[in-house]
Amino acid sequence: MDKIRIEGGARLAGQVSVSGAKNASLPAMAASLLTGEPLALTNVPAVWDVNTMRRLLSELGVVVDRQPNNLRLSAHTIRSHEAPYELVKTMRASVLVLGPLLARNGRARVSLPGGCAIGARPIDLHLKALKQMGAAVTLEHGFVEAATEGLRGADITFPQVTVTGTENILMAATLATGTTTLRNCAREPEVLDLVQLLKAMGAQIEGEGTGEIRVEGVPRLTGASHRIIPDRIETGTYLIAGALIGNGIDIVECCPTHLKSVTNHLQQLGVDIESEDQLLRVHETSPDKFHSLDLETRPYPGFPTDMQAQLMVLLTQAAGESHVLETIFDNRFMHVAELDRMGADISVSRHRATIHGPTPLSGTRVMATDLRASACLVLAGLVADNTTVVDRAYHLDRGYERIEEKLAGLGASIERVSH
Ligand code: UD1
Repeated sequence: MDKIRIEGGARLAGQVSVSGAKNASLPAMAASLLTGEPLALTNVPAVWDVNTMRRLLSELGVVVDRQPNNLRLSAHTIRSHEAPYELVKTMRASVLVLGPLLARNGRARVSLPGGCAIGARPIDLHLKALKQMGAAVTLEHGFVEAATEGLRGADITFPQVTVTGTENILMAATLATGTTTLRNCAREPEVLDLVQLLKAMGAQIEGEGTGEIRVEGVPRLTGASHRIIPDRIETGTYLIAGALIGNGIDIVECCPTHLKSVTNHLQQLGVDIESEDQLLRVHETSPDKFHSLDLETRPYPGFPTDMQAQLMVLLTQAAGESHVLETIFDNRFMHVAELDRMGADISVSRHRATIHGPTPLSGTRVMATDLRASACLVLAGLVADNTTVVDRAYHLDRGYERIEEKLAGLGASIERVSH
């Protein structure tokens, strides 16, 4: 198992480019199941979750032709309608094949995702919506079995905002008969990106970016070409690296408007950020200027839960008492125990973390438990004294393209250690 070794204290400078968004690539790839014609996707990051989705789609009969950051997916014939446990257990977003398979094929069998390091993550809202659209859904032997003679448009209100739930039902609705209205939808940029792709494939959709999306079903969709949006979470991770230990860094090929909540919070904390078209510049800021902050994670356009762990590293360097309320997931403070082992002073009570800063961090061997927690530990290693070794780098590889190379390019002393 690979590890990431970091010698803390090296100042960062220069320019780093952002890769395509993992969370936009996964639904876009699943959308290939909706048509027999090829889908060409560009700016797809070479990360492990994309690879898992590629393997899953291949199992289902999709022919995937892969160049480094481009994919051509052709679902001319759907060979199987089953998403097996082995793949779904490693990536919960595998459930994104459910809606498209059902819409195109009339049948889908998808393993239930099971436990997850960041708390229970059910898919009941996906299933309830598919039932409203006329699918028969049963749970048997750990699998969701869904079948339909043809999905019908429906009026669906999500009781809670769900990103992949919105995406799954949107995809299903494109080929349903009649109109589907989705209320309390996710407004994440990745949902909008999926809508752009579906429209290019011939889908009739309006209202994206608001809480209410209407889809007029069409009999068939066509192939299309689509460029995936930049990864806003990767962008935010480099923003924090620059704020923590930068002499001025430029983050390029990003979309600053997707990060308004993140940049607003960072500016409130005292980070000096400048924004231009496709560029974010973090000026050198002395950490003794950082103020404490109260933060809540929220669905977009609120502060993303996927940035909570990384921001917490910065809060350990800010003077005073900060509070972080995690409102999206249970059990998303697994990084806290590791940060405390590095010298942070953070306590957790249910969904609320209290951070007392500033505290110097000291390097040690730490273990990552999920994707964003791993990124948080890498960031902590950049400012810690001495050596930090982050175990289980595969968590990072699920969602960050060449993170150690990109940070090394900025001047960090970081390397991958393989055994
Ligand atoms: C997506 C992102 C993930 C991000 C999350 C929240 C992808 C591939 N993943 O995950 O990186 O952290 O959004 O921004 O895009 N819920 C239910 N029942 C359901 C569905 C969700 O109770 O059927 C709950 C979840 O347990 C969670 C909340 O709703 O508490 C939000 O989850 P959701 O938006 O669905 O997260 P994902 O789509 O899995």
